Amino acid sequence: MTSRIAVVPGSFDPPTLGHLDVIARAANLFDEVHVLIVHNPDKEAMLPIAQRLSLLEQSIAEANIDGNVTVGSWSMGLLVDYATEVGASALVKGIRSQVDVAYETPMAIVNRNLAGVETIFMLPDPEHAMVSSSLVRQVAGLGGDVSPYVPGPVARFLDTGARGL
Ligand code: PNS
Repeated sequence: MTSRIAVVPGSFDPPTLGHLDVIARAANLFDEVHVLIVHNPDKEAMLPIAQRLSLLEQSIAEANIDGNVTVGSWSMGLLVDYATEVGASALVKGIRSQVDVAYETPMAIVNRNLAGVETIFMLPDPEHAMVSSSLVRQVAGLGGDVSPYVPGPVARFLDTGARGL
């Protein structure tokens, strides 16, 4: 039987508990999950891609998420080119609100038209419904405690960074 492969794409700047929740759910549904850091030209990045990759790997390991998850990055073109290259049939996106639905729907339709890759919208645990990377960036930037919203490795990294250590 062919493996069911999914890509969980995003900026992950930084990874949040909401991201981790979606990754864990996708890992339960698919044989292989590729968590993919994609540069979003519409957003000014806080962390370099290599840092996000390391934090995602540490967070996934610390959360004991299944061994079928790998982390990578993609800056070579369309997201669906990556999906096609690795044989992924689906993109998995977390949806917190109608705002996310409005933002994600055109991308999902374009991605399906471009390469026949489906998008699965996944509802995160309500506990994480208000968490976003942009909020975490803002709170961390102003010296606030972000540990309720991010995995341990991210909280430790941002706390150390905030104190300039
Ligand atoms: O976490 P984000 O910033 O909401 O993630 C958005 C992202 C990176 C997944 C989105 O910008 C994207 O898919 N970029 C890839 C470029 C692409 O393929 N664009 C054309 C089809 S939408």
